[in-house]
Amino acid sequence: MSGLILVGSGWHPLLFRAEINALVGTVDVLHPRVVHFQNTPPPSSQEYTNLLSRLSRAALLDDVVQFGGFSDISELDILAQNIANWADDNLPAGSFSVRGRYLGSAVEGISRRGLEIEAGGLIYSETNPVDLENPEHEVVFFICGAVDGATHGDSVICDKPILIWGIREKSFSRPNYIGRQPMDRPFFKPVSLEPRLARLMVSLSHRPEIEPDFAIDPFCGTGGIVIEAAVQGISVLVSDLDPVMAHGVKKNLEWAEIPEGTLVEVARCSTRSISEQWGSRKNCIFAFDPPYGRNAWKSDDGLELFLATLTQALLIDPHSSICSMLPAGAESLENDPSQNYIVMGRPWSEVTEKIHACGWDVVLNSPVKVHKSLARMVIVCHPSN
Ligand SMILES: C[S@@+](CC[C@H](N)C(=O)[O-])C[C@H]1O[C@@H](n2cnc3c(N)ncnc32)[C@H](O)[C@@H]1O
Repeated sequence: MSGLILVGSGWHPLLFRAEINALVGTVDVLHPRVVHFQNTPPPSSQEYTNLLSRLSRAALLDDVVQFGGFSDISELDILAQNIANWADDNLPAGSFSVRGRYLGSAVEGISRRGLEIEAGGLIYSETNPVDLENPEHEVVFFICGAVDGATHGDSVICDKPILIWGIREKSFSRPNYIGRQPMDRPFFKPVSLEPRLARLMVSLSHRPEIEPDFAIDPFCGTGGIVIEAAVQGISVLVSDLDPVMAHGVKKNLEWAEIPEGTLVEVARCSTRSISEQWGSRKNCIFAFDPPYGRNAWKSDDGLELFLATLTQALLIDPHSSICSMLPAGAESLENDPSQNYIVMGRPWSEVTEKIHACGWDVVLNSPVKVHKSLARMVIVCHPSN
């Protein structure tokens, strides 16, 4: 057995999987929050390092594990034996620990702690001594039950609990937002997007196999999205109509820890003229949240501005992709895919037709909850041709 197990956060399993698809392509779904990426290059190769660095762009990826195996849930001693049999053939020499995690609801009759102790006892040998503090290898397992308290709709459900195990990939590290929260930045406004959502939008606008040369945000505000792109070394083309924002975002970008060689260009201009501003470019991704005042989004203007941006994006790069976040009514969270939600003040079917008329197809749409009475629709569009 080979490949990597990718474990997502419970916040939005559907968007976790969409993010992994956008970054690395097709994966097998084992559980709403767990996917198996099979085509892994050899761990010692440069391709493998590149794969991990690509995965580190994901906002909703919690854990990366070298795939061991998976099974239905049965008696604890049988499960422990399964893990031990696999370890016999696959665990390299060196100290180890066994760590378990519940994903979703606990599974009746299986104690995480009990399985850690039982499997650890069976694996233990002279070549594999236990070291709980600083093990050379961390054997991990996930007891995967039903996704609990799901706020967001998902077509994949966990119909029966499973156990998944493997060796933790130590070279993977999750993004760390400490010190990068909107209020930590020199220029702050309440419109600022929180970094995890901003990073999610950047990764959703990726396509597998393509390394973006530029991330473009024509409604940059305080720079939530472009900061997340630039700290990953993606060059950014940044603009806003409001001179206060265009000035403030510069300060934020100077303050952010951006790797050397990453191009940052900031302009004050309307989204309607970004193709004149930036000219023709290759390998662009667009990520933006258009303006949504208290009532402004209910008027046609918000939608019209969004559509104008789609047209501009095609002029800059006809092979680009877009991730955006549009205001939607809370009814969009009711998880009924047949419902024609109101998005930007219009029925969603009408909005998709208008998007299509601008030369784009919606390849993903999923609501995220903002608060009780407000949701936003995260959408990804690819050029129709
Ligand atoms: C929702 S905010 C974006 C917030 C941003 N993502 C952040 O993290 O701060 C929308 C932005 O669009 C800008 N805006 C409004 N109309 C515009 C237009 N016609 N062209 C460009 N920017 C515009 C506003 O000044 C505002 O900064």
